[in-house]
Amino acid sequence: MRLGYRQGCSDMVKWHPVCSIEALQSDGYAVLELATTAIAVFDIQGDLYAVEDVCTHDGGELAGGPIEGHTITCPRHGARFDLQTGQVLAPPACIPLRTFPVRIQGGYVEVEIG
Ligand code: FES
Repeated sequence: MRLGYRQGCSDMVKWHPVCSIEALQSDGYAVLELATTAIAVFDIQGDLYAVEDVCTHDGGELAGGPIEGHTITCPRHGARFDLQTGQVLAPPACIPLRTFPVRIQGGYVEVEIG
């Protein structure tokens, strides 16, 4: 089967497991590595958010960067993003992050990649 091919029931294709909910709660974040990019999922006081783990300024990894409220700071040059919306809150980035729906299914955190 080709990558991206979807059969009648696409639900199994679109949602990708990331980690157990216990692992996410323990570490605060987890990263799903894909062939073309990476997606970081964050647990902020029980609310889950997923963004592309690629800073739009110069490609830095965001996971592991400091988080204050719903704001993450890129460790490379300090751009700040709202994890709820992906919006840029401080330069040098000027392009929002891509965000993804998150759910918990059978004890696992999953992200939807359309
Ligand atoms: S790579 Fe993130 S601010 Fe430059």
